[in-house]
Amino acid sequence: MRKRAFSGIQPSGGIHLGNYLGALKNWVALQAGYECLYCIVDLHAITVKQEREVLRQNILATAMLCLACGIDPEKSILFVQSDVHEHSELAWILNCHATMGELRRMTQYKDKAKRLEGAAAEGGASVGLFSYPVLMASDILLYGAHAVPVGEDQKQHLELCRDLARRFNGMYGEIFVIPEPVIPENGARIMGLDDPVQKMSKSASSEYNYVNLMDEPSLILKKFKAAATDSGKEIRYNEKEKPGVSNLMNILSVTTGESFRVMEKRYDGKGYAQFKTDVAEAVIEKLKPIQREYRVWESHPEEVVRMLQEGAEKAREISRETLRRVKEKVGLGGAP
Ligand code: AMP
Ligand code: TRP
Repeated sequence: MRKRAFSGIQPSGGIHLGNYLGALKNWVALQAGYECLYCIVDLHAITVKQEREVLRQNILATAMLCLACGIDPEKSILFVQSDVHEHSELAWILNCHATMGELRRMTQYKDKAKRLEGAAAEGGASVGLFSYPVLMASDILLYGAHAVPVGEDQKQHLELCRDLARRFNGMYGEIFVIPEPVIPENGARIMGLDDPVQKMSKSASSEYNYVNLMDEPSLILKKFKAAATDSGKEIRYNEKEKPGVSNLMNILSVTTGESFRVMEKRYDGKGYAQFKTDVAEAVIEKLKPIQREYRVWESHPEEVVRMLQEGAEKAREISRETLRRVKEKVGLGGAP
């Protein structure tokens, strides 16, 4: 039997270049060797406030973007998390095996909670946001996934997932597969264009922080031209001294495959302006076929809905069996 891969993405309005280079590119690549399950994690999305209609649209749009990037529904199972109730159920059981201390250490939680405390109208962090990594662990463990393609920011969550799986296996016998993160060597952490010391993020305050996969070419060019660069003039890779230029070099390198060394030579004596335009053009070219594919899926929403339903059916077949075994081991349920 082929090994499984699992990953998830939040339906929080578009997919940005960081998501694509850090995670989705690998989702597509892993289809060649693994049985893949890819999940639109709407239950994770509601750990922060959402508008009902916007969320609904974002779920479908995110599915279409995954398809446009190359997720092949003939090869992979693409589905929406809340369509498979086993995720919430296993999350509860794992919640009872994770400790407050473990979750308090999660840096993503600390960052998000701090931001929410600052925004009085939001009313502080939800309990869901706190136990978010446990739900993520359930997503992965339900399918016995060996490989989890993610960007670098998810490394700590994956470590927690592995700890929980080991703990559970130790207490109840071998149930869970211990998953391995699949993090790309380059592109695992794309930084914000306007703020290259923070990761590129959909929740950034300015849209000049990120490139959305569906941005018009003219907007992409504008965003790259406005990208923060550093003092000096030379195009040289040095994350500490030149975070802006290094981020752009990283984007160009993962987009075209050109090494930093060759790039540095090619831009020797040339200024930032030409370099930024070239990065923009490379990204525009890369996104063209994705944008074209998206338009096709966009005109067949009913087909995407049907596909997601079929995906959920298939996912349920696998997850139901895992949950049954977990409940049996823990001693839950009325039947002996
Ligand atoms: P999210 O949008 O938070 O659901 O993230 C989806 C996937 O994209 C996850 O695997 C993240 O690790 C990855 N990701 C998010 N932001 C970045 C970034 N700036 N650079 C690289 N990967 C990222
Ligand atoms: N937490 C991940 C993120 O924000 C999304 C996610 C949810 C995920 N469940 C997952 C990723 C399971 C990998 C595996 O990016």
